Amino acid sequence: MMGGVVVVGVRPGGVGEGVVVVDDHDVAGPASDPTGQLWVVATLGRLAGQGLLERRADSTDPEAVAGQRLLIAAGLLNADPFGPSERLRSLLPAGAPLASIHGFVRELLAMLSRYAEGAAPGWAETDPELIRSRGAASGTVVLSILDRCRRYLPGLAERLETPGAAFLDVGTGAAGAVIALCRAHTGLRAVGVDISAPMVTEARVQVAAAGLGDRAEIREQSVAAIEDVDAFDLLWVPQAFLPESVLAEALPRLHRAARRGAALVMAISTNSDTGVSGAVTDLRNLMTGGGTLSPQAAATMLQAAGFSEVEIVVLPAGTVMVAHR
Ligand SMILES: C[S@@+](CC[C@H](N)C(=O)[O-])C[C@H]1O[C@@H](n2cnc3c(N)ncnc32)[C@H](O)[C@@H]1O
Repeated sequence: MMGGVVVVGVRPGGVGEGVVVVDDHDVAGPASDPTGQLWVVATLGRLAGQGLLERRADSTDPEAVAGQRLLIAAGLLNADPFGPSERLRSLLPAGAPLASIHGFVRELLAMLSRYAEGAAPGWAETDPELIRSRGAASGTVVLSILDRCRRYLPGLAERLETPGAAFLDVGTGAAGAVIALCRAHTGLRAVGVDISAPMVTEARVQVAAAGLGDRAEIREQSVAAIEDVDAFDLLWVPQAFLPESVLAEALPRLHRAARRGAALVMAISTNSDTGVSGAVTDLRNLMTGGGTLSPQAAATMLQAAGFSEVEIVVLPAGTVMVAHR
């Protein structure tokens, strides 16, 4: 039974960049009908795409009027004054605009459909529009996570301004993080790696369109095959998409690829929920590819790979590991 579980978005590391925001509190939806929650989620996606989470629908648009009525009943929109509820805003990944719900919901529904059809775990999005919208959201989300972790990353901003500084984006997708970091630090160079050919193609298009072709390299490569040595000052690792065996193989290579004093920031998919919520979170974590990983297990893996100063940073949007070489 899915009653009481609302799945509305994707956020870093359980969100994150990864994954899906699950909230299981006080949903006034049709608790006895699991499909009712799917209608709530789909309505969020539709209205977000029409800008109708922030303004009332016209009475000549009965589908939108009915959708807004549903979201008000579900506690996701306020009726008076009309607009998104605090609860809806809290379900979004840090820094992501309301409109990004449109892409997150369509991505989620596509993933659920693949799951229903019997798909294997792992990120398998091939729709270029969804790949692009995820990239746009990822850039904002990664910058926001780095900002929220800044007390654990002393000197990083200055370091990224140093000539020759370099960033590694693991699972680069549409290169959202590569582009955002390169824009934020004008001399920074970046490498994005991804095992998916459609992602690599899209990432190269986006990097060229951003005018960063001379500063960013996109490789079709697994993180477990990285051979760079002393090459990067900041490494972004979304555990949500990396099976544990891949992560275990990758971390010592990432340690070798990091420069002395470099920071590795890894969003992880944890699960402290119980009951239906806990089962949903574990299933979702499994299907995005990385599975559930506890902060303690992540810390052990990072230390075994040679990283030190390992911190567990619990943010509203999920848990992030910060470590240094
Ligand atoms: C949700 S996407 C990341 C989105 C990205 N940050 C953006 O800006 O678009 C996760 C990515 O991880 C990639 N991935 C999965 N396993 C990988 C591996 N072993 N090495 C590198 N990338 C991997 C997937 O192909 C997928 O593109």
